[in-house]
Amino acid sequence: MYGGAKALFYAISRSAVLKRLASRYGMAGAAGFARRFIAGETIDDAIAVAQRLQSQGLLLTLDYLGESVTTLDAAVAATREYVRLMDLIVAAGIERNVSVKLTQLGIDVDRATCVDNLRRILEPAGRHGFYVRIDMEHSQYTEMTLEIVETLWEQQYRHLGVALQAYLFRTDEDVRRMNALGARVRLVKGAYKEPPSIAYRHKADVDAAFVRQARLLLDEGTYPAIATHDERIIQAVRVYADNQRIPRDRFEFQMLYGIRRDLQASLVAAGYRVRVYVPFGREWFPYFMRRLGERPANLGFVVRAWLRER
Ligand code: FDA
Repeated sequence: MYGGAKALFYAISRSAVLKRLASRYGMAGAAGFARRFIAGETIDDAIAVAQRLQSQGLLLTLDYLGESVTTLDAAVAATREYVRLMDLIVAAGIERNVSVKLTQLGIDVDRATCVDNLRRILEPAGRHGFYVRIDMEHSQYTEMTLEIVETLWEQQYRHLGVALQAYLFRTDEDVRRMNALGARVRLVKGAYKEPPSIAYRHKADVDAAFVRQARLLLDEGTYPAIATHDERIIQAVRVYADNQRIPRDRFEFQMLYGIRRDLQASLVAAGYRVRVYVPFGREWFPYFMRRLGERPANLGFVVRAWLRER
C-alpha cells in the first residue's frame, strides 16, 4: 500500500517543522484548500459544518485534530478542549459523538495519565449521552489501545469503541476480541506506514482482509462501522448484509469529511446510516498529508485551488 507518492506524503506528514509552520500559518490564505477535508480551525467552524451535514441526513463524529503530543501540558490542554467541545455540541443540539487519539491524550508521555485524560472525557461524555471512538494509530499502539479499551470496559465505560485496521495481520483476532467484549468497532483499511512483517502491502490483500473482517463484524459484532470510500467493498458489504438479513440500522457506513460526498448522499438515499468524520483544529497538517497520500490526484485539486487564490 505504500508506493512512491504515498510514502512521500507520509514522510512529509511526519515533519515537525512543516507541522509547526502549518499550525502557525493557519488555514487562511494559501492553506484554504485544506478546507475541502478539514472543517476549519475552531469548534465553531466544526459545529457549523456538522449542522449542515446533519441537515442532509448524515450522522457525525467530530475530531479535534492533534497527535503525538510530547508533554503532559499539551495532553491536558487537548483533554480540556474535548470537554469544551462536548459542552458546545450539547449547546448546539447536534449529534453527540467524538473521536479521539491516544497520542493526543499523552500516551507517549505517560500511559496512566493518558488513561486518566481519557476518563476525564468519558465522564462528561457518559453524563451527556456521547459516544467516544478511539482512532487507531501506528501498530506500536494497537495492543495498548485494546488493553485500555478492555480496562475501561471492565470499569463500566460502555460508551467507548475503537477503530481497527484491516491491513494488520493481527486484525482478524482483534475483531474477534472486540466482538467477544461487545465493544463497537470501526473497521478501516489503515493509514500509517507499517512493515511487511506485520501488515499486508498490496491493495488486493488489504481489501480481501477488510471484507473478511467486515463479515465477522456483521455476524458477531456490536453495531459495526464500515469506514471506507471503496465502492466495491461497500457493495460487497451491502450484498452480504442483505443475504444475511441484517437490518440497515444494525451497522453504519463511515466516510471522511469532503471525500466521496456523492457516495455518502446515495447511501443515505438508499436508507443506510452514514456517519461523516469531521476533523477540525489548528493541527491539520499530518491529517491533511495522509489524505493527499491516499489519493495523489488530490494534489491536482490543491494546486488548482492555490492558483485560483493567487
Ligand atoms: P482506498 O484508499 O482503497 O480508496 C478507495 C476509493 O476511495 C478511491 O479510489 C477514491 O475514490 C476514494 N478515496 C479514498 N481516499 C481518498 C482521499 N483521500 N481523497 C479522495 N478520494 C479518496 N485510518 C487509521 O489508520 N486509523 C483510524 O482510526 C482511521 N479512522 C478513519 C475513520 C473514517 C470514518 C474513515 C473513512 C477512515 C479512517 N481511516 C483511519 C483512514 C483509512 O485507514 C484509509 O486510509 C482511508 O479511508 C482511505 O481508504 P479507503 O478505505 O477509502 O480505500
